[in-house]
Amino acid sequence: MSRVQLEIFLGSILIAVTGFILLYVGFNEEKRMEEFVRYQAAQKIEVGAQLFEINCRGCHGLRGEGIPGLAPPLNDAHFFQARIAEVGWQGGLEDYIIATVSTGRQVSTRPDLYPGAGSPAMPTWSDEFGGPLRKDQIETLAAFILNWEATATGDVELVQIPSSEPSAEELADPVARGLLLYNQSGCAGCHAIEGISVGAVGPNLTTVGDTAATRIEGYSAEEYLRESIVNPLAYLVEGYDDLMLKNFADTVSDAELDDLVAFLLAQR
Ligand code: HEC
Ligand code: HEC
Repeated sequence: MSRVQLEIFLGSILIAVTGFILLYVGFNEEKRMEEFVRYQAAQKIEVGAQLFEINCRGCHGLRGEGIPGLAPPLNDAHFFQARIAEVGWQGGLEDYIIATVSTGRQVSTRPDLYPGAGSPAMPTWSDEFGGPLRKDQIETLAAFILNWEATATGDVELVQIPSSEPSAEELADPVARGLLLYNQSGCAGCHAIEGISVGAVGPNLTTVGDTAATRIEGYSAEEYLRESIVNPLAYLVEGYDDLMLKNFADTVSDAELDDLVAFLLAQR
């Protein structure tokens, strides 16, 4: 073998070895990329799950099962298979979720089944429209909801609300009337009271009958509770955002306000 031939021979080997190394790294890189993408998707769902528990669970249920008389299930076959056709949405389900959550919903499309928390039926969530969440956070919520597709069970029929005609006894007692209003006015969607509701958007009200008197100096518990409902901006409970609906002054009558306050005063 001449020197030139030898150099060509060694050169070819070098190129072949480099090629193999590049192929090897490239192949593994693809696997690493796949793993990374999977990891990222899982992370997104996890973040979405946390946001859902804080912001959405109170109305849509911890596992998206919905709350009859308040907000629809999202973890069910009807939502995945029929909902966008039902409302005439042109895009895909992910777009529908992101758009609906971002803007909230002024008026429920199914007011008899899922009236929501009054007006708006669902608050606006995107900071683009004055809500509390960023776009990327809403995307994680969509990922979390879409993650239910495989397990979404249930009937394609809509959930029926159990009839809840109040008894004469309930109608005679202001605290019992207040409980009905608490459930019907959407308070339950945002507030938890042990044994009554699990909302987590606002503070837990299990002992609010006691704490109310400690909130604003010079205010009795009753005065504070009254103002909390009709003018939520007057005092912001520490650690909570200003998410309480602002229109109860218009939607709740004076008599209803008395009942709600009586009901809250009894929570101690
Ligand atoms: C105050 C109660 C309330 C809260 C809190 C709430 N929602 Fe809703 N949501 C509703 C109501 C009411 C509707 C409208 C139902 C209708 O139009 O039939 C709705 C509709 C939706 C829809 C469309 C469902 C459909 O079948 O068309 C999605 C998706 C959704 N909400 C996601 C969320 C997410 C995510 C959060 C938390 C960031 C959230 N919601 C918080 C009450 C609420
Ligand atoms: C969309 C969510 C939402 C709805 C619906 C809602 N609240 Fe609230 N509420 C909040 C948030 C968030 C706070 C804490 C911020 C603040 O103080 O305004 C709060 C605060 C309160 C407080 C003060 C609690 C304390 O510990 O000092 C009371 C009382 C209260 N709400 C009662 C009600 C009643 C009664 C209703 C129904 C008529 C209702 N809320 C409906 C979100 C909500």
